[in-house]
Amino acid sequence: MKTQDRINQIHPVKITCDALWKVFGDNADRLKSDPDLLALPSHERSERLREQGYIIGAEDISFSVHAGELFVIMGLSGSGKSTVLRCIAQLQKPSFGHVMLDDECLDTMPEATLREIRRRKMGMVFQNFGLVPHFTALQNIAFPLKVRGESRAEAQSKALAMLNLVGLDGRGDAYPSELSGGQQQRVGIARSLAVDPEVWLLDEPFSALDPMIRRQLQDELIELQARLKKSIIFVTHDFSEAVRLADRIAIMRDGKMVQLGRPADLLLHPADDYVASFVSDVSRLQVLRLDDIMTSASAMPSDFGEAIQLDSQMTLEQCLVDLDPNQNKFIITGEQGRPVGYCTRSHMLDIVSEASVT
Ligand SMILES: Nc1ncnc2c1ncn2[C@@H]1O[C@H](COP(=O)(O)OP(=O)(O)OP(=O)(O)O)[C@@H](O)[C@H]1O
Ligand SMILES: [Mg+2]
Repeated sequence: MKTQDRINQIHPVKITCDALWKVFGDNADRLKSDPDLLALPSHERSERLREQGYIIGAEDISFSVHAGELFVIMGLSGSGKSTVLRCIAQLQKPSFGHVMLDDECLDTMPEATLREIRRRKMGMVFQNFGLVPHFTALQNIAFPLKVRGESRAEAQSKALAMLNLVGLDGRGDAYPSELSGGQQQRVGIARSLAVDPEVWLLDEPFSALDPMIRRQLQDELIELQARLKKSIIFVTHDFSEAVRLADRIAIMRDGKMVQLGRPADLLLHPADDYVASFVSDVSRLQVLRLDDIMTSASAMPSDFGEAIQLDSQMTLEQCLVDLDPNQNKFIITGEQGRPVGYCTRSHMLDIVSEASVT
């Protein structure tokens, strides 16, 4: 079964953005109660607002993130990624639309309740780190724990564990100004994880890190997520990072969500040239798995002939590089070795060479 189908079946929806808009400009708050504007269909509303000189940070965004899902928002600078994240955390109030956490509507919630939810259920890592400059690294990490009433000793011991988790052992007494950008970012990551959030909002958390540490932290995030199964919304402008981490990716452009799908969906069927331009940098061989390209077992011709069995989670690279090149026919098996589909080596080669044409 494909990853997303599995997530949909097993896990309930955790966060929902429903027709979310964020409009910036003088008196933008008043727009909420403008009945004419509310009555307009989305594209006309957007035209009207732009004509009036407003900037639209997020336009009619709808999606749901399941418990245990790692959802990535990807797009170029200024496309609206941070705006969506800030609206989810209610650090910016949506101009229109709603944000739900479980079955609670966050945008109509009193500020005191929201604060409590942010303390107990949400972890956030901001693009600009957001550390307190006159606190040491350890004090920064322990801060949200103390705020929610944990004892000094308890907060200190959790903070130390988090400091080690992000590889900053021995630097707990350093102030943010004494740490590199990447190290500050790791303090931010540790601080947000210390509260053991259900929902983890990460705004370009690895962008200030050099490639090796970045890859290492990506691996740690994947491993952490396999254990902790949080609902993560991860913002990045790096498509390779998105593909590596995501269960699903939402691609944003000019405030709009232009495509939402599993990494394989985007690779195989990019919605437009903008999405295709990101996709072309990524290796189909390494990303696509057999269950992304196979034909369903129910359609298998009776004369398919002799075939060997392969696990549906193998990548095309594993198949094409490791297997006997003379073997052309494969039965694809899923959970408990049940046949779920079939494919041929020639089909795999076609899929890979299509990518080099586009
Ligand atoms: N407070 C604000 N006032 C006015 N315009 C804003 C404000 N915040 C964001 N914007 C605008 O909204 C759009 C989306 O900004 P946002 O910060 O969400 O982009 P982003 O995708 O996170 O970009 P980056 O990758 O550079 O962080 C941009 O055009 C930005 O200039
Ligand atoms: Mg941003």
